[in-house]
Amino acid sequence: MRVPRITAAAALAALLAVSVTACGQEARGGSRYKPAGGKGGVIGLAMPTKASERWIADGENMAEQFEKAGYETDLQYGDDKVENQIAQIENMITKGRRLLVVAAIDGSALTEVLQRAEDAGIPVISYDRLIMGSEHVDYYASFDNERVGELEARYIVDRLKLGEPAAKGASYNIELFAGSPDDNNTTYFWNGAMKVLKPYLDSGRLVVRSKQTRMNQATTLRWDGGTAQKRMDDLISKNYGEERVDAVLSPYDGISIGVISALKSAGYGSKGRPLPIVTGQDAELASVKSILRGEQTQTVFKDTRKLAAQAVKMGDAVLNGRTPEVNNTRDYHNGKKAVPAYLLDPVSIDRSNTDLLVREGYFTAGQLR
Ligand code: GAL
Repeated sequence: MRVPRITAAAALAALLAVSVTACGQEARGGSRYKPAGGKGGVIGLAMPTKASERWIADGENMAEQFEKAGYETDLQYGDDKVENQIAQIENMITKGRRLLVVAAIDGSALTEVLQRAEDAGIPVISYDRLIMGSEHVDYYASFDNERVGELEARYIVDRLKLGEPAAKGASYNIELFAGSPDDNNTTYFWNGAMKVLKPYLDSGRLVVRSKQTRMNQATTLRWDGGTAQKRMDDLISKNYGEERVDAVLSPYDGISIGVISALKSAGYGSKGRPLPIVTGQDAELASVKSILRGEQTQTVFKDTRKLAAQAVKMGDAVLNGRTPEVNNTRDYHNGKKAVPAYLLDPVSIDRSNTDLLVREGYFTAGQLR
């Protein structure tokens, strides 16, 4: 199946779409790609990895919801290898998929392949992670990524009561983790967290004993839990003899689980040496259970069903010549353009409100037992 060449009618529709939106926000109405009207066709869904539960859910949710909306889907996982993802997207283009929804493994590695999508008249939605360095990204569906970092850091500040007057000289030790350096979200999470933590780092109420306070010292390639575990082992052995770690900023549940393993190997979590506050993100089942066991302390819930629904709504609008709803046209510049985005709200979860996940139907009560 191939995507038809743009017809004169479509070209006219495209012209109209551009002129209608010229004074507004998006310059790229959907109908520049495909004659309006008519559902169906296959949507290419390029997801990064099955190693993490969330991406499995994202892919399945989108497949299900696109199918409900009258499309077929071609769902591929790149096994966290950039070359796999590029080959999968190339294949989707060759097969004439009508629309691509991509959660990039390396946000800056898709420029060439997206040029091919553009040449073939296939629109692209960047999913959760912004694709960088390409004009051919039509829309972006994500969560408010800076807010995620703020929620994690705010949790640490509140739990350590840093907002309250301190006994003289009272300070806490914290270590900082960041996400994958090739994921654009990493900087947003980090900046959001640092905005909240900086005053306490500056005043000395929070101390990073390792002195690894720059993002590029704290990144975790491909968000890998094992890599985080090794770094945490190292941080503990080199910087914490008598001293204890009081908090760990972690931007993702997989990293948190690795960090907690390192802490436990060093004797934390046993009598007289409680585990520190450890944040996270994604509300993955293993982490929610860890929170209920009193190990991981916090996570950030980003409902993958809602994100999938947003991407499906955007895709359906683009394919039918409508302008998708967006709520941010400024903050997600990918180096080539500010990509019109719809950002959803993340929610902080700790032991006190895991029931929200059951009420919202994200997990069953049985799964959390
Ligand atoms: C990020 C995403 C996070 C987390 C992480 C690791 O891009 O926004 O929610 O899933 O990847 O997969």
